[in-house]
Formats: sequence, structure tokens, C-alpha cells
Amino acid sequence: MIEGRRIWLTGASSGIGAHMAKELLQRGARLALTARTLGPLVALSERFPGQVLLVPGDLTDHLQVREIGMTIAQSWGALDTVIMSAGTCEYVDVSQFDARVIERSVCTNLLASSYCIESALPLLRAGRTPHLVGVVSAVTASPQRRAQAFGAAKSGLRYLLESLRVDLADEGIDVTLVSPGFVDTSRAENPELSIQGRWPASKAAAYICQQLQKRPREVVFPTRLLKLLNLLATLPKRVQVALAKRLSRRQGETSL
Ligand SMILES: NC(=O)c1ccc[n+]([C@@H]2O[C@H](COP(=O)([O-])OP(=O)(O)OC[C@H]3O[C@@H](n4cnc5c(N)ncnc54)[C@H](OP(=O)(O)O)[C@@H]3O)[C@@H](O)[C@H]2O)c1
Repeated sequence: MIEGRRIWLTGASSGIGAHMAKELLQRGARLALTARTLGPLVALSERFPGQVLLVPGDLTDHLQVREIGMTIAQSWGALDTVIMSAGTCEYVDVSQFDARVIERSVCTNLLASSYCIESALPLLRAGRTPHLVGVVSAVTASPQRRAQAFGAAKSGLRYLLESLRVDLADEGIDVTLVSPGFVDTSRAENPELSIQGRWPASKAAAYICQQLQKRPREVVFPTRLLKLLNLLATLPKRVQVALAKRLSRRQGETSL
């Protein structure tokens, strides 16, 4: 039941997060929306009056995330669901390896999520049937070309959430990971990155929202790709590397 749930959704200004916001608002949820770009959040609050709490900010800034948590606490007193969809994807050029790319990815995809979790947990503890959701990536199933920064950060986030699930089970807080494969979003507009089987963001968002109601440990899609990556992960490392090279050459680029 989504109607009336108090949900904090990050990454709500574009891509999967923006589509999830529309989907959840249409189903009657109350949403606290975060992103740095205010315009799309305001547009949603105007389209769904009374359902939206605007909590914009830069999630890589620990203090800003604490303030967002305080604003939600003052307005609602609790949260029923937190969906951390904010994230960035930067590819690594190994011929000119730049550690700052890794730093930026870890900062946005991992550390920022940990700031959100710090702010969210006390509110979830006061919520109804609390649910913590983090968007990771299918890339963590096996090593992919140029995905070192994104993959390292999302693997860290995966471990953070999976180990939190163990501790939070005692408190009745469910934890779900969302692992997209290929989704058409703003960051994937380059026609060279066109990949067969890529889902539109609206389809991905509808699927995630529908699946989250069942509170699975993980939501994975597109399933065909995931089956392939899981199979890859069972193969010897030298075979994995050879196949990853062929896969990314055929697809032009990895976009997990
Ligand atoms: N698209 C795919 O194929 C794919 C595959 C695997 C995983 N994912 C994951 O799915 C999630 C959504 O991806 P997407 O493709 O929909 O990306 P997107 O269209 O680029 O949207 C990313 C969202 O994150 C927000 N964000 C980024 N940095 C932020 C920061 N420092 N503070 C606050 N908000 C920030 C952006 O808002 P502002 O820029 O306005 O701040 C935006 O709303 C991400 O976690 C991504 O890693 C996507």
C-alpha cells in the first residue's frame, strides 16, 4: 500500500528517480524530494499539491543532509520509506588513470548514501513498516570495462546495505537493493551508447515501484541481462575478463 506513505526519494530531478516520483505521487504517496536542481522538484509539488515536501540539496555535503533530515523530522516526524536513487556515473580512462574520478564516484554513490542513512534511520525507526531502499547497479555482478569508479562505489554501497539488512532486521526495518542494468536516462543520451534491451526510465520506475511493494531483498532488471551477468560471475576470472572485453566492444560501452 503506497497511499499515504511518507517517502524520502533522492535523485528526484531526473531519470529513474524523477519517474519514480511521478509514479509514487500518482499512487497517493507523500514524498520528500531531494536533488540539487530545484526546478523539476517544484514542478512536481505544483502538479501534486499537498503531497510534496521540498528538501533540495547536495547529498555529498554531510551538513546539508543532516539539515534535510531535520526538515523532514519537523514536517513529518517520521519516514516510512527511504529510496536513495541519487547517483552519478563517470567512466575511467585507464590510459590516463585519474584517482579523482574514483573519489567523485565514491563521494556521490557511497558516502552520500551513508549520510542519507544517518539522517534517515531515526526517522524510519519512528515510521510504519519501515523500508530502506538503495539503487546500486548490475555492474557489481562482474568486472566491466571502464566501470572501475562506478563499480567500486556501487559495490561498496551494496555491501553497506546488505550488512545493514542483517542488523536492521532486529528492528523490523526491511532493506531492498535495486540493481538496474541498462536504463535510458539523461546520462545515456549518447547514441554511441545505444544498447539493445535498454529499458526506458518510465518502465524501470514503474517496475521498481511495483516490486518494492513486495519488499524483496533485490529488484533486478532487465532480467535477461542479469542472468547473463550472474552467469559471468560463476565463470573463471580469465574467462570473465575475455567475455567482458567482447561484451563491451559489441555494445560500444558499458552503461551499468
Ligand atoms: N541509467 C542506468 O542505466 C543505470 C544503471 C545502473 C544504475 N543506475 C543508478 O540508478 C540511479 C538513477 O540513475 P539515472 O540514470 O536515473 O541518473 P540521472 O538521470 O543522472 O539522475 C541522477 C539523479 O541523482 C541526483 N544527484 C546526483 N548527484 C547528486 C548530489 N550530489 N546531490 C543530490 N542529488 C544528486 C541528480 O540530481 P541533480 O543533478 O539535480 O542534483 C539526479 O536527480 C543512480 O543511482 C544510478 O547510479 C542507473
